[in-house]
Amino acid sequence: MRSETRTIFLTGASGLLGRSLMARWTSVGHRVRALSRRTQPESADPNIDWICGDLTQEGSWSSSLDGVDVVVNLAGEPISEGRWTETRKEELRHSRIRGTQRLVQAIGASAKPPEVLINASASGYYGPRFEENLVETSSAGDDFLASLAKDWEAAAGGVEVFGTRLVRLRFGTILSARGGALLRMLPIFRTGLGGPLGPKEFFAPWIHVEDAMGFVDWGMAQTGLSGPVNAVSPEPIRMGEFAHRLGRAVHRPAFFPVPTFLLKVVLGEMGGSLFPGQRVDPQVAMDRGYPYRFPDLEGALADLLG
Ligand SMILES: NC(=O)c1ccc[n+]([C@@H]2O[C@H](COP(=O)([O-])OP(=O)(O)OC[C@H]3O[C@@H](n4cnc5c(N)ncnc54)[C@H](OP(=O)(O)O)[C@@H]3O)[C@@H](O)[C@H]2O)c1
Repeated sequence: MRSETRTIFLTGASGLLGRSLMARWTSVGHRVRALSRRTQPESADPNIDWICGDLTQEGSWSSSLDGVDVVVNLAGEPISEGRWTETRKEELRHSRIRGTQRLVQAIGASAKPPEVLINASASGYYGPRFEENLVETSSAGDDFLASLAKDWEAAAGGVEVFGTRLVRLRFGTILSARGGALLRMLPIFRTGLGGPLGPKEFFAPWIHVEDAMGFVDWGMAQTGLSGPVNAVSPEPIRMGEFAHRLGRAVHRPAFFPVPTFLLKVVLGEMGGSLFPGQRVDPQVAMDRGYPYRFPDLEGALADLLG
C-alpha cells in the first residue's frame, strides 16, 4: 500500500481477522468503515466508524462506499459453527455469495469505485487433493467447500468491469492466539489427547494471523497484482508433523489421531475436514517476494503460544 493514509471499507470487521486488521490499520493512520450486522459500541478510536448492516440485504451501508480507496471483504457465516444441515450450508453460501454480489453492485453504484477489492477465499477452493502440488492456476475441487469458494470468487469477479483491481486471497487455516482453529485445538492438546486431526500424511495448509494480515496489506500495495493468491505458509507440513509440533509447543505428546467424534465436538462439523489433505503452494507470493514473518510452524507457534 502506498504510504499515505487510506480509507478502507471492511466487511466481516467484527471477526477474527477483521478485528486484528482494524487494530493494525488504525495504528498507521488508516480510516476504517467497519460493517457488522450488530450494533457495535462506538469505537474509542476516531479512525473507526462502525456501520450497521447486512451485506446480503440492500441497505444504507452501501452509501458508505463513497470515497473509499480500498474494500476488504471478509464477511461470511462462520464455517466451523453448527451442523452442516442443508439449511446451514445455504446460510454459508448465501452470506458469502449473495453478500459479495450485493457488495459488487454497491461498488458499481458508488461515486468512484475503489482502486482494489481484496476478497477472502480459502484453500478449500482446491478440495481434497492429497499429494498434488496446488498452485493458483490449479483447478477447483468439487466438494461443498470447494464450490463455495469457487462461487464466492466468481461473485467478486464482477467488480473488475468497474476498473477495480481484484485480489482473491485463498487463506489456509489462520492461526491466531485470539480465536479460530488454534484456540479450539489447544484444550485437546493441553490435556494430552492431541494428535493428527485426520490422516497424519495429509498436508495441512496454515498461515499465522500476522501473515494473513500481511497478505491483505501486500495485496493492496502490489498495484500490478490481481487474481488468486494462495495465502498459506511456504513450508508444506503434514498433519502428523503439525500435531507433533503443536504437542511439543504445549509440552504434551501428540502421536495418536484425535477421534472424529472429539474433533466434531471441538471443531464443529468441519472438524474432519479442517485439513482435508491439500499441498498448497504459495507460488504467486514466492515469485513476487511476499516477505513472510512466520514462514515455519515452529516459529509461528512459539510466537502465538509463547
Ligand atoms: N479463520 C480461518 O482460518 C479462515 C480460513 C480460510 C478462509 N477464511 C475466510 O476469511 C474470512 C475471515 O475469517 P475470520 O476467521 O475473520 O471470520 P469470522 O471470525 O467468522 O468472521 C466473519 C464475520 O462475517 C460477518 N458476517 C457474516 N455474515 C454477514 C452478513 N450477512 N453481513 C455482514 N457481515 C456478515 C460476521 O460479522 P457480524 O456477525 O458482526 O455481522 C463475522 O464477524 C471468512 O469469510 C472466512 O471464511 C478464514
